[in-house]
Amino acid sequence: MNTKKATPKTAKRPLKAKNSSPKKTPLAKKPPPQKTRRDFLILASGAAGAVGAGSFLYPFISSMSPAADVAAAAEVEVDIKSLQVGQAITVMWRGKPIFIRRRTPEEIKSVQETDVTAFIDPELDKDRIQKPEWLIVIGVCTHLGCVPSGQKPTDTRGKYGGWFCPCHGSVYDVSGRVRKGPAPKNLYVPPYIFVDDTTLRIGQEATVNV
Ligand code: FES
Repeated sequence: MNTKKATPKTAKRPLKAKNSSPKKTPLAKKPPPQKTRRDFLILASGAAGAVGAGSFLYPFISSMSPAADVAAAAEVEVDIKSLQVGQAITVMWRGKPIFIRRRTPEEIKSVQETDVTAFIDPELDKDRIQKPEWLIVIGVCTHLGCVPSGQKPTDTRGKYGGWFCPCHGSVYDVSGRVRKGPAPKNLYVPPYIFVDDTTLRIGQEATVNV
């Protein structure tokens, strides 16, 4: 008589492969330093939409790889009233980090007065913003897709005070314009509107150029 017990079918399950995002992975031979993938302040994610800048002390995330639920939000509203002059925050929109920086008067003067003729991707600051104090750009390097550093005051920001991409050394100014390659293009500006003086809606095209 066979007394062997049957093995439960659920005893072994294959481990799930780690979620990865091929589009976000730079093609560099060496992986970017961990710093570029860390310490981002996430203010908004998922379909919930509205968030407050006052909550920007938490949570931190350890990876910039977007989760599926984060990538789904078509529009994200951000309350920016708590953001002080000189501060920057990062929100997620469609799986991409969006850099929001409240620029200082000195920064605004600097980017407005610079002659862009010899720039890699010549573009006037006024064509990239809706209100001089607020710069909103997609925080993805236009070379191979790394996330540049510069959102925190302690980050390396490069010679022009904007962002520095440590993957291959691209440097961006406070208008998000590339000032040193190999990045070929300025940081892209996402569609957005000001719902009111202290609320941004990212994902909606502005109907009027201010
Ligand atoms: S990904 Fe190459 S310089 Fe940014």
